[in-house]
Amino acid sequence: MRARLRVLRAVRRPAARWRKSLQLRVVLTSLLVGFVAVTILGGFLTSRIRDGLVNERISQILRESARGAQDAQDTFNAAGLSSSSGVQQVLYDEPRVLQARGSGRPEVFLFRSPSKSPPVLVNDTATNQDLVVLIGSKMRSAVQSDGAQHWQSVAVSPVRSPGVVVGSAVTIPTAGTYELYFLYDLSPEQASLFLVQRTLGGGAIGLVALLGFLTWLVTRQAVQPVRSAARVAERLADGLLDERMVVRGQDEMATLARSFNAMAESLQDQIRRMERLSRMQQRFVADVSHELRTPLTTIRMAGEVINASRADFDPAVARSAELLTAQIDRFESLLADLLEISRFDAGAAVLDVEEHDIRDIVTRAIDQATPLAESRQVWLGVVFPEERCAADIDPRRIERILRNLLVNAIDHATEGTPVEIVVAADRTSVAVRVLDHGPGMTQDESEHVFDRFWRADPARSRSTGGTGLGLAISLEDARLHGGWLQAWGEPGGGASFRLTLPRRAGIVLTDSPLSLVPESTAPLPQPDEGSRRRVDPAGLPDFNHLEAR
Ligand SMILES: Nc1ncnc2c1ncn2[C@@H]1O[C@H](COP(=O)(O)OP(=O)(O)OP(=O)(O)O)[C@@H](O)[C@H]1O
Ligand SMILES: [Mg+2]
Repeated sequence: MRARLRVLRAVRRPAARWRKSLQLRVVLTSLLVGFVAVTILGGFLTSRIRDGLVNERISQILRESARGAQDAQDTFNAAGLSSSSGVQQVLYDEPRVLQARGSGRPEVFLFRSPSKSPPVLVNDTATNQDLVVLIGSKMRSAVQSDGAQHWQSVAVSPVRSPGVVVGSAVTIPTAGTYELYFLYDLSPEQASLFLVQRTLGGGAIGLVALLGFLTWLVTRQAVQPVRSAARVAERLADGLLDERMVVRGQDEMATLARSFNAMAESLQDQIRRMERLSRMQQRFVADVSHELRTPLTTIRMAGEVINASRADFDPAVARSAELLTAQIDRFESLLADLLEISRFDAGAAVLDVEEHDIRDIVTRAIDQATPLAESRQVWLGVVFPEERCAADIDPRRIERILRNLLVNAIDHATEGTPVEIVVAADRTSVAVRVLDHGPGMTQDESEHVFDRFWRADPARSRSTGGTGLGLAISLEDARLHGGWLQAWGEPGGGASFRLTLPRRAGIVLTDSPLSLVPESTAPLPQPDEGSRRRVDPAGLPDFNHLEAR
């Protein structure tokens, strides 16, 4: 298993390098193509050179041995042989003479042709008795049959170097027909061929290496600017807008760098312009909100005076006075939200942290939401862990988040269903989940709920009336704590919001002690009227079960 893992790792690393590096791919491909081309060319050249060398030598050998046979025949004819010892002497001397005359000192053999029975019978002679075996019977019968010149290639022992045997018939007066064989050694030709092959091989390796090096050099020149562009683009994406490429020379790469820099310049300009615009807009919203506060205070006071004396008005005017007061309330809360958002945008929001038990803050938020829950016929269920859930938090901001989550949940919950609040904690974080059984939301909607002024259905009847800023502010508050605020929903299956906060500043969240998606979306059984009661978590020993409020 471990060995297989090791092999897998050993394969994966080069494969990853191959995929990632264009330079490596181009160099290796050109090396491979170069190697194949050089091998084919080398093979072709070697075979042509070998053919040239060997064929040339063989025709030379054939010419030379024909001449040698003719010389021998002339010597035999001229010798006037009559005695057996004379023939013996000539037969002994002639091969040595022929050997000395031949190029590359061939071995020479003289064999008596078996078919004739001459008056003088003389033994076979050879310049090298050990090599007599190389003259095969096939060769001999070919020469014996017509006496013409025949040749055959052989392997000369002991190193089995290549050789050629050439044979033809000669007639010795009084002694009859003899076969004359020349054995030529071709090892000098073989040595030349090896030398050529070695030279070609060395040249080929050098050529392929040069090709690889050149490709590496060329691709490096092409890839380097691309790499540098990628590096600069990454840094630009990280927000370092002053980053630029180095422009060298006048070539295409310099054009690329110049165009890249021009693009970065224009991007930087646009971003700066948008930043300025955005700052102006933020300032405008902040100023307008601020400026509206004074007239609004006057309007509120006037509204209160009118509202207080509405009993004296006729019913239509009294109703208008009520509406006026309600709308002034909404106006005030919208203004407060806008001012809060502009504080976040200006980076002026400060955390006022203290160690608090999140259960106390949840309890406070529930207390505030209870009247609304009662009016909407929604009951609140809460699960608290037994142990303290202390964390360094700004209680005002966390209470605001929870209040908004609860109001949203109550607002959306179907009448008669529960809103379930669960608190949990682990070593590094505390979490609160608010779950309702209302119309829920789609995946797309859950990605937008934190957008400013966003509402799933602007036409939805809202008794409390909302501006669509609540969750945007909640998210900013959670982020200020280094925490998470996440939403999940299912159309018709309710919605769940989870707030996770680190226990101490500096802890980076990696997980939450609560799951965002509830284990079961089925609503809890509704408690009967008698058990619908207010629960003070501090006064109850067991909070591990769901309590009806
Ligand atoms: N529990 C929920 N179920 C379904 N949709 C929800 C739920 N909570 C919020 N939403 C959707 O998200 C939108 C934004 O919520 P948010 O709290 O930001 O604004 P609001 O409640 O409309 O106004 P505000 O809180 O500022 O008074 C809501 O209008 C609603 O469409
Ligand atoms: Mg809200």
